[in-house]
Amino acid sequence: MKLSLSSVYRSSNFPAILKSSAFSIPCRSFCFSSLSSSQTSVKAQIPLFLRPARCSATLHDLKKWHDWAKNLASSIGLTFEQSDNGPDSSLLCRELKWLLEDAVEDHTLLPLMGVQNDDKRVTMRAEVDELYNLWNQRIHERRPFQYIVGCEHWRDLVLSVQEGILIPRPETGHIVDLVSDVVSKDDELKVGVWADLGTGSGALAIGISRILGTEGRVIATDLNPVAVAVAAYNVKRYGLKEIIEIREGSWFEPAKDVEGKLSGLVSNPPYIPSKDISGLQAEVGRHEPRVALDGGVNGMDALLHLCDGAALFLKPGGFFAFEYQVSVR
Ligand SMILES: C[S@@+](CC[C@H](N)C(=O)[O-])C[C@H]1O[C@@H](n2cnc3c(N)ncnc32)[C@H](O)[C@@H]1O
Repeated sequence: MKLSLSSVYRSSNFPAILKSSAFSIPCRSFCFSSLSSSQTSVKAQIPLFLRPARCSATLHDLKKWHDWAKNLASSIGLTFEQSDNGPDSSLLCRELKWLLEDAVEDHTLLPLMGVQNDDKRVTMRAEVDELYNLWNQRIHERRPFQYIVGCEHWRDLVLSVQEGILIPRPETGHIVDLVSDVVSKDDELKVGVWADLGTGSGALAIGISRILGTEGRVIATDLNPVAVAVAAYNVKRYGLKEIIEIREGSWFEPAKDVEGKLSGLVSNPPYIPSKDISGLQAEVGRHEPRVALDGGVNGMDALLHLCDGAALFLKPGGFFAFEYQVSVR
């Protein structure tokens, strides 16, 4: 089995839903505390496209870099594809275009590259030397493109990501759709307290918080301090600090105050069987954090823990959706 950044969670992965009916007494008396969003000193990095444009380069130098990078992308893509189902040349060339767009402040100048005005300077968010470095990392180290530019476009969000946290995958968005569906039919769920356990970049917490009503709240936990810092950054950027509270710690541990009180619970836990980690595409296996991927011997360690906890933490009628992978061989 080959798992990749673009397909690791694709097609064979699905969100599952459980409805809690184990309790008979609805419990709604709950006071939402506002703890600090992070107990860590780790700092989230600013994505390239949000950096101030303090650098500049001539169109000539920019074109020289672009030609070099494009040649590299065109010549190496097939090797990646054949070795571990990695990005092909056309995807690498698309990434190069996105990198250029994130780095150059005024995109309307890009068509002039190589055509005229060689000495014309363009305002940039990175020096050309840095672009050489970044593209070398992309090609020679297989550093994921999302870490290179510091963000991932996920649904209608642009989330900051960096080494140390999982890059959110499109498939995970199905969980947000499921939540949207269920809260549209049940006002109780809409105004309740939800939890996103193992929040990573905060993708699910942010996606869900925008579906809940103004009284809805989300607690997002992660034991990884980098995830806590990046999720807090993303939450702040989307102006959701009043709704989402990030707490550092293992699964339910930091959310003990809401035991039996949660309206809903979502999670995309690590679920790749340990033995499959070595077969992952280089972008994933070499760069994404093992703690976000490795689900133990059969991939179910975290999931079983979450299922046990869901029975305790959900209130009657509560909703639980999680992502899991069905192994296809
Ligand atoms: C597959 S990633 C999902 C990240 C994010 N929810 C997403 O969908 O993009 C799993 C996340 O669980 C976190 N995690 C792993 N073990 C954990 C634990 N014991 N307690 C809390 N979070 C944990 C990892 O740090 C990682 O952020």
